[in-house]
Amino acid sequence: MSAGDPASLIAAWQALAGRHDLPWQDTRDAYRIWLSEIMLQQTQANTVIPYFHRFLSRFPDVCSLADAPLDAVLQAWAGLGYYARARNLHRCAQRIRDEHSGQFPAQPETLAQLPGIGRSTAAAIAAFAHGVRVPILDGNVRRVLIRYLALAGDPQSTAMNRRLWAQAQAWLDQAPANLDMQAYTQGQMDLGAMVCTRSRPDCSRCPLLESCAAHRLGQQDSLPSPRPRKAQPQHQVWLLIMEYQQQLWLQRRPDTGVWGGLWTPPLLGSPAALQTVLQGLGQPDTVALAGFEHVFTHFRLAMQPVWLRLPKAAPAIQPSWQQLPAGKGATARNPVLIDLDAGQSSWTPLTALNGLGMPAPVATLLDGLYPAAAAL
Ligand code: ADE
Repeated sequence: MSAGDPASLIAAWQALAGRHDLPWQDTRDAYRIWLSEIMLQQTQANTVIPYFHRFLSRFPDVCSLADAPLDAVLQAWAGLGYYARARNLHRCAQRIRDEHSGQFPAQPETLAQLPGIGRSTAAAIAAFAHGVRVPILDGNVRRVLIRYLALAGDPQSTAMNRRLWAQAQAWLDQAPANLDMQAYTQGQMDLGAMVCTRSRPDCSRCPLLESCAAHRLGQQDSLPSPRPRKAQPQHQVWLLIMEYQQQLWLQRRPDTGVWGGLWTPPLLGSPAALQTVLQGLGQPDTVALAGFEHVFTHFRLAMQPVWLRLPKAAPAIQPSWQQLPAGKGATARNPVLIDLDAGQSSWTPLTALNGLGMPAPVATLLDGLYPAAAAL
């Protein structure tokens, strides 16, 4: 096709009207591009920017990241959420160090075999770092294509997925050989983020206006179709903040599941579990703090913090607590944690709180309780 093919129109539009000042755009360094793409998987560019800079100053190249302890990586990541991304990032860096001599492969198929790198992320890295001619299909591109073709139906279905990848490939096949892959790849992301937005798309600024089926049919506001919704379950946990002589009892969450690898006070899955623990501690006075809710991808977690200060001797941690009753609906992935005697549990000085990777809502809570700890 001529310069009027969609990919060429998007690349030309990007050069004129797209984003040009994002900190991962002025490089062909695959490490920086990979890092940005992983951070951007579930998070908007404006949120990512300060994390990206901080991460690079702590881990300037892939080997420094691979050599760092997981805790340091999780701590630098804390606040970005979706911590599986940080664990995969660390594992991926180690694979690059050990299996690829510290160099990111250029082929998208090889990249896609690494932890945390799906097909679209692999394609974006290959296109940005090496100009490889491959399609991407992230959330933004999905929406652009669905509107362009006016496709109704579950946007996440397997059939839709197949159709969209085929169309993404078709746009590349129609474009001339000298298509600028960096501008085209960034342009697809920019179009989705700036023009073909989820709500109130600004079709007047769109380079594909003339050939977009949704625009022709006036369906740009109703497409993509809403996903069939499942009710989000809610779980409740009691967060037991035990203080003893300027120390807190903290434990490291199992690597799989919610907040994997991060440090938290014990999370108890039922009032009965809480009562059993308090009995074991000799019924100390407790203070119930304001409860709060944290929203995960597949469920909501209501958290009730309970604060207590142990007066005399540190308690012997009771093996029987491992048998505490779990909350209703507890599963391996659900945060109900009973194992107070896990190997990775300890009395942690308040002065050391700052150095631990903690989930953001827990860190905020402890900052509020111990504002001086940061300065100690
Ligand atoms: N989202 C995913 N990748 C991106 C990029 N390179 N620039 C801006 N937003 C993005």
